Amino acid sequence: MNISVLQGQIQKQRGSALVLNLFQGAKPGGATKAVDEALGGLIGEALASGDFTGKRNEMLLLYPGKSRKGFALSRVLVVGLGKQAEFTLEIARQTAGTAARRLQELGVESALTILHGTGAGGLEAEAAAQALAEASILACYRFDQYRSGTPERSALGRLTVVENDAARLPAIRRGLRAGSEIARATTLARDLGNHPGNVATPGYLAGVARQLARRHGMRCQVIDERGMKKLGMGALLGVAQGSAQAPRFIVLEHNKKAGGKPLVFVGKGVTFDSGGISLKPGEKMEDMKFDMSGAAAVLGAMQAVASLKVPRYIVGLVAATENLPDGRAYKPGDILKTITGKTIEIVNTDAEGRLILADALGYARRLDPAAVIDLATLTGACVVALGGHASGLFGNNEQLSERVRLAGEAVNERCWPLPLWEEHREQIKSDFADMKNSGGRPAGASTGAALLAEFAGDYPWVHLDIAGTAWSTQSRPYIPKGSVGLGVRLLVELARTWKK
Ligand code: BES
Ligand code: MN
Ligand code: ZN
Repeated sequence: MNISVLQGQIQKQRGSALVLNLFQGAKPGGATKAVDEALGGLIGEALASGDFTGKRNEMLLLYPGKSRKGFALSRVLVVGLGKQAEFTLEIARQTAGTAARRLQELGVESALTILHGTGAGGLEAEAAAQALAEASILACYRFDQYRSGTPERSALGRLTVVENDAARLPAIRRGLRAGSEIARATTLARDLGNHPGNVATPGYLAGVARQLARRHGMRCQVIDERGMKKLGMGALLGVAQGSAQAPRFIVLEHNKKAGGKPLVFVGKGVTFDSGGISLKPGEKMEDMKFDMSGAAAVLGAMQAVASLKVPRYIVGLVAATENLPDGRAYKPGDILKTITGKTIEIVNTDAEGRLILADALGYARRLDPAAVIDLATLTGACVVALGGHASGLFGNNEQLSERVRLAGEAVNERCWPLPLWEEHREQIKSDFADMKNSGGRPAGASTGAALLAEFAGDYPWVHLDIAGTAWSTQSRPYIPKGSVGLGVRLLVELARTWKK
């Protein structure tokens, strides 16, 4: 989708569709008022009838026809903003998403729109423009490349923001550009999560990383099994043992020349999680292709920080492997030696995410990081605790945890703090090794985090358990069913607002 801004009066434009908005219980104001007047009070009539009230995401679609002299827009779509006192940036996103998706469903290929919430809503033009671009692109996301025979429906390919105030154009352009790049990066992450496991293999993720590096001038290092052996990544190698697909450890570096300690993003990239020898039940096992959503978020975020030229040193680390049962597979009772030298007794081969992250977090120590954020579809326990409403947030540094939480609030990717106590560490004590890889069902999300904490060591670290949030079972205004691309927007927000 191509999104741009045009200076002019809204009621004088021509085109196939125009998007306007309205607060619940309010009279038309601003651009909506100008168009209502040009239409001889058509919007006012809909309001007077009570059929349209301006509730959040409510839509009124008008066809003005040729009757109104000088009015040359074939469709006018008014979207409700809800109550003015309850308005937020997230509602601006939802409004844009609701409108864009509706227009795309109608087969409209090009539309005009106003910014949402810059008038009575009180938003800055740049933030409103970013929200509009982000949500419009994300709402129109489709993943239908594996369907044969069905002809590709037309896409909403062009969106033009109409703004009368010339002084606001530079800020709007900046916002549209950022929103477009962030949405594109989120789209990449969604695609990676939606691709089946036979396509999105560890090698495929490495290929995507190399391509990003080439396009955006990043440094990319892909470590193969030999390299992992040299580094002592026995946990990642152990998980990978049962798979015919070779594991990959990806290191993507953006803007090292900026100097200073890097901000490091770490992603769990289990491209299919069968559970291994501790095999999962068959029901819904197909969903486990999404077990690389943390990796997808990291790759998406790296694309965005590179394309937006975020002026700091950022490193993305991805541990990628499958988890399958086989004659060579790792098994309960095995003891694996990690990159830090610490050993882990395997009591359940389905607790594989923490193992590969142990080596990734251990590897991060050599980067002397300013902060490390890992994202992982780590535990079913976190899904039980928080559902799809929030990602579980754990960490070893209050200030970093709060920063991550606030970044999540800003982009509406909510994170909720869960405890990480000495008692959780006790739960994973082993009779044979430094720790075991599962503490059983009680406090399952926290014991997973407790194992990770052993490998994060001294640097400020946050772990986000995205098991419940990375996949959406329902369609929302700018989030369709399936892979959410969750974490990209949060990480980019964190990177763009990061201060040493
Ligand atoms: N990838 C799963 C976590 C998961 C489960 C995500 C369900 C989404 C939905 C992870 O590798 C896993 O299997 N975790 C186990 C850990 C247990 C064996 C300690 C779990 O949560 O059951
Ligand atoms: Mn598992
Ligand atoms: Zn897993």
